Amino acid sequence: MNKTLQHLGPVCAVVGSQWGDEGKGKLVDILAGEYDIVARATGGANAGHTIYVGGKKFVAHLIPSGMLHPKARCVMGNGMVVHLPTLIEEMEVLDKAGIKVDGRLVISDRLHITFDYHKLIDGLQEKRKGKNKVGTTGRGIGPCYTDKIGRFGIQMGEVLDEKRFAAHYRENLERLQKMYRFKHDGEAELKELKKAIKRLAPLVTDTSLYLAQALAKGKTILLEGANGTMLDIDHGTYPYVTSSNATVGGIITGTGLPPMALTSAVGIVKAYTTRVGSGPFPSELDNALGESIRQAGGEFGATTGRPRRCGWFDTVAVKYAVRVNGLTALNLTKVDVLSGLDMLKIGVGYMYKGELLKEMPSDREILENCTVVYREVSGWKEDITGITDFTKLPKACQKYIEALEKYVGCPMRFIGTGPNREQMIVR
Ligand code: GDP
Ligand code: IMO
Ligand code: MG
Repeated sequence: MNKTLQHLGPVCAVVGSQWGDEGKGKLVDILAGEYDIVARATGGANAGHTIYVGGKKFVAHLIPSGMLHPKARCVMGNGMVVHLPTLIEEMEVLDKAGIKVDGRLVISDRLHITFDYHKLIDGLQEKRKGKNKVGTTGRGIGPCYTDKIGRFGIQMGEVLDEKRFAAHYRENLERLQKMYRFKHDGEAELKELKKAIKRLAPLVTDTSLYLAQALAKGKTILLEGANGTMLDIDHGTYPYVTSSNATVGGIITGTGLPPMALTSAVGIVKAYTTRVGSGPFPSELDNALGESIRQAGGEFGATTGRPRRCGWFDTVAVKYAVRVNGLTALNLTKVDVLSGLDMLKIGVGYMYKGELLKEMPSDREILENCTVVYREVSGWKEDITGITDFTKLPKACQKYIEALEKYVGCPMRFIGTGPNREQMIVR
């Protein structure tokens, strides 16, 4: 492994450390060149990880972002929830781009299947929640994990047994149709799934055993987180979260790797903050400045195309992510987007009812009604796109990064200066 990357060690997790879309796909793509295996552990097609290689754009929803490195093997772990037709579509896109999937991708026999009816229920639940809706991606994530936790779910291994699967599917659909009052043509979905299952069957295996055997042979593993710490079902801004553990803990249970195998955890953080969907966002800039950051950063969802809400960097939230994930390094992304601003604000605390809070509160009433205490720093005018040497950054930009590091208490060893693979400072 490259000398500057040795601190990562043989088993490294990459985790979203704000509200998702921090730029996980880009770092995973870069590091995939250094690791033997890249594994996804949690979430489903709610994720959208964008990678630019040679000016060409790829968005990975289900397949690990390591797929673009021809030598990397990819794993879809047991903690994922997967809509099979979406997976097939993604494989076809890669196939058309000349990227070989067969022989390089393995799929856990324990992961749970997302069906079309999960998506329907997702939509119905959002509608019924009205103004309290979560603003989900509509990919059926919550209803699929609900079935998993309720012990009704259908695992990948089970779909390979056609008769048993069909009976279980029909039973689940009948129960859910009664419960949520909707109609769905289950027979048509079952028929459509047949081809997909036949195509995927050879890739299905016990991926926790696969990873354990790889470790025993001295192979290195990169773990690709999905979503973000503040969207974690336990540690996020509940109930405005996704339905899985997006933190390092979820990556461990979502792959079956022993926790002590992990040698590092890199948190991805944007140089400002974004959030898609509803829920509290203390440092939000719901104004012209927020709009100009949205335009400059192209802040529109990679999965749904929705405009992302934008705001200042919130060190309270990121410091919390450093703690609950045990982060050993950070990748600060999209610093280039902030060029041109006269002044930047850094959120360093929350004021609530006259009290200064420096730790992340769990109560959403506090998060919705607090005011953020900011520290102001100078901006820079120079375009920094593509800079790969920290000392070449304008002094004000260096100071901004160093101030963030000090507040969150974790070194920013990767600094993104553009969307392309090579636009990264590594230190
Ligand atoms: P992910 O879900 O965490 O992988 O992030 P997304 O792909 O949803 O959104 C991140 C966006 O930022 C993508 O369009 C990336 O190409 C882009 N990006 C990542 N790092 C940088 C960077 O350092 N600078 C710029 N300008 N864009 C970046
Ligand atoms: P990546 O991996 C940003 C958000 C949704 C919604 C909430 C629940 O690309 O960073 P869900 O469909 O999961 O039930 O939606 O979580 N969300 C994400 N936001 N990036 C993601 O993934 C997200 N995955 C879920 O917008 O607010
Ligand atoms: Mg994304």
